[in-house]
Amino acid sequence: MANRWINTLTEKDVTPEAAFMNRRQIMGGALAGIGLAGISSSASAAPEGLEPNTYEEITSYNNYYEFGTGKDDPAKYADALTIEPWTVEIDGMVDKPGAYAFEDILKAMTIEERLYKFRCVEAWSMVIPWNGFELADLLNMAGVQSGAKYVAFETALRPDEMPGVAYPVLDWPYVEGLRLDEAMHPLTIMATGVYGKDILKQNGAPLRLVVPWKYGYKSIKSVVRITLTDTQPPTSWNKANAREYGFYSNVNPTVDHPRWSQATERAIGSGLFSKRIETEMFNGYEEDVAALYAGMDLTKDT
Ligand code: MTE
Repeated sequence: MANRWINTLTEKDVTPEAAFMNRRQIMGGALAGIGLAGISSSASAAPEGLEPNTYEEITSYNNYYEFGTGKDDPAKYADALTIEPWTVEIDGMVDKPGAYAFEDILKAMTIEERLYKFRCVEAWSMVIPWNGFELADLLNMAGVQSGAKYVAFETALRPDEMPGVAYPVLDWPYVEGLRLDEAMHPLTIMATGVYGKDILKQNGAPLRLVVPWKYGYKSIKSVVRITLTDTQPPTSWNKANAREYGFYSNVNPTVDHPRWSQATERAIGSGLFSKRIETEMFNGYEEDVAALYAGMDLTKDT
């Protein structure tokens, strides 16, 4: 069956919003029969028939606290971030540690288009056509050593360019982490674009993590370091409030945030007041990822 959220692009492919909408209609048929190794052959119900948010919505309603805590602060202030040159330090338990230039990473990776649901822990959601590559490909390039169990990520920390880090909202730099099998899962990508355009700074340029079955705060922006380790790494929101934010942070409508329900979400852009829709287990990717958590009590391991 089709996995409608996958479409291989060449590096320089550009998908304007209007063309994207047209091509999606063609893709529905064209991709039928193409499977993806490692993903259950029946596509999840959720990604079928998704309508993407507009480019304007995706790039103007953001969380990027390094630039302020308002939803419009990142679009206003993130332009100050210098993204050229950009290097990603890959270190820890890898065969080829080092500073990888962003251009070299791009050349080595296959850029795909992935239409993913995106669910913030604040109970709003969007549908975003990302461009990017599988994190597994990057980790394999660096050569993961046996014994590595987790992947830690770090965002750039530039006090001169990031007005928000003057405030102790979080313990900067922003850090995140995944278990190695979550990081290697084919749904986990490093996004470098939106709608076929280079990803904008407010969305985490030049490259940010996207883990569609987890709350949005796991999807760390503007990554400068990736570390393979054998111990569970600290994560920013867990450090800020461990009672409210667990390490796993899987989308789960049956486990409420201590201060609000997670059973429903506000679908951004679906009308004046935004439609409230039911939140799905693992954000609709249950068929693809539930096996990662077999035997775990997800009401405790949040
Ligand atoms: N990454 C960094 N470095 N700083 C942040 O404040 N916010 C997170 C996540 N990644 C954040 C971050 C949260 S809470 C969400 S919901 C998503 O980014 C928002 O991504 P978007 O603005 O591209 O929709």
